[in-house]
Amino acid sequence: MKLTPEEQEMLDGKHGKATKKSMEILTTLGDIFEAECMVEVVGVQIAGVSYANLGEAGLEFLTELAEDGKVRVLTTLNPAGMDRENWQALGIDKDFAKNQNRAIDAFAKMGIITTCSCTPYLIGNTPHFGQHLAWAESSAVCYSNSVIGAKTNREGGPSALASALTGITPLYGYHLDENRHGQVLVNVKAQIKGTDEFGVLGKIIGDKLGELEKKIPYITGITSATVEELKSFCASVATYGGTALFHMEGITPEFYKYPRPKDIVFDITPVEIKKTRAELIDSDIEVDFVSIGCPHASIHEIAQVSKLLEGKKVKKEFWITTARPTKRIADETGYSKIIEDAGAKFAADTCCVVAPIKGRFKGIMVDSAKACYYGRAKNKFKVKIGNIEECVEEAIK
Ligand code: F3S
Repeated sequence: MKLTPEEQEMLDGKHGKATKKSMEILTTLGDIFEAECMVEVVGVQIAGVSYANLGEAGLEFLTELAEDGKVRVLTTLNPAGMDRENWQALGIDKDFAKNQNRAIDAFAKMGIITTCSCTPYLIGNTPHFGQHLAWAESSAVCYSNSVIGAKTNREGGPSALASALTGITPLYGYHLDENRHGQVLVNVKAQIKGTDEFGVLGKIIGDKLGELEKKIPYITGITSATVEELKSFCASVATYGGTALFHMEGITPEFYKYPRPKDIVFDITPVEIKKTRAELIDSDIEVDFVSIGCPHASIHEIAQVSKLLEGKKVKKEFWITTARPTKRIADETGYSKIIEDAGAKFAADTCCVVAPIKGRFKGIMVDSAKACYYGRAKNKFKVKIGNIEECVEEAIK
């Protein structure tokens, strides 16, 4: 790879050990993907933050980098394994909490902002069109590429951290316009509404793309979509299809730059939506846990939940998972009080997938197709999808 004099100095260790190690990671990645050079990034988002994923080996790697490493660009963290302020009330083990805090302290020492959230774009790590990033969380990668029109590959935890410590990433993949055109035409011939249905749509498209080598869908037929619906769609299509970029005609900013693909075309009908939705409801489920906020709930979603819960009492464990800054807005506006008076709990900094809760519940109800996937695969829960109103109804019944 062609390196600038400063990049070469970093690789030679003239800017410290952590920067040298980071450059080794990035140049290796660049060589594998035949990048000609590096490109500067304006922001980084790091995944793999939960101690359950990191383990002692991951923690050792972080501690070593934190000895002299300092981030050069705005960097935030994905959800951790626990709510950092309220972990006891959520039933998190003391030893796990101690180790999780050791990991977060190491990130903080490097200058990383420890807002542990998979929706950094809602809380200040907000790029704009065309900017280069090194983000790792799959749903956020898909959102930034597709909905914002920023440019990032899906980074792993170490490569994202290496970009944070150097401010650069190898120029390949989705950083290049020639790799961003739609490859598969998807005509949606059904009305899609709500975070749950957009998640179902993401699963259908993701499942179909998973069978193909081509990964960038060009989607027609969606007439409107909210931020919340798009974040749910991104999480789902990334989970089921490994998709990091899509274009949605009339909705996302880059669709006009590329022609409609002609080679591979498929239609999505109301029957298929209904059938796939049914696949996300286990027939013998007994719901004892309800969770909203995958990806992390926006203040708009929290307002909705608060309105639905006003004056009611939940009878099941009910989590609203969100970013800490969003929770603080909910505190100030009074939404938190209404929600907590109803017996529901905030799980800020974490979520129902990364928290170590395997075996604690039998059946989970969510409004997210991604949470259904991991609820089954990781936590071995039975799952049920519904919209926010249906989730709240389930929690209070
Ligand atoms: Fe975010 Fe956890 Fe869902 S990280 S996308 S809330 S699985």
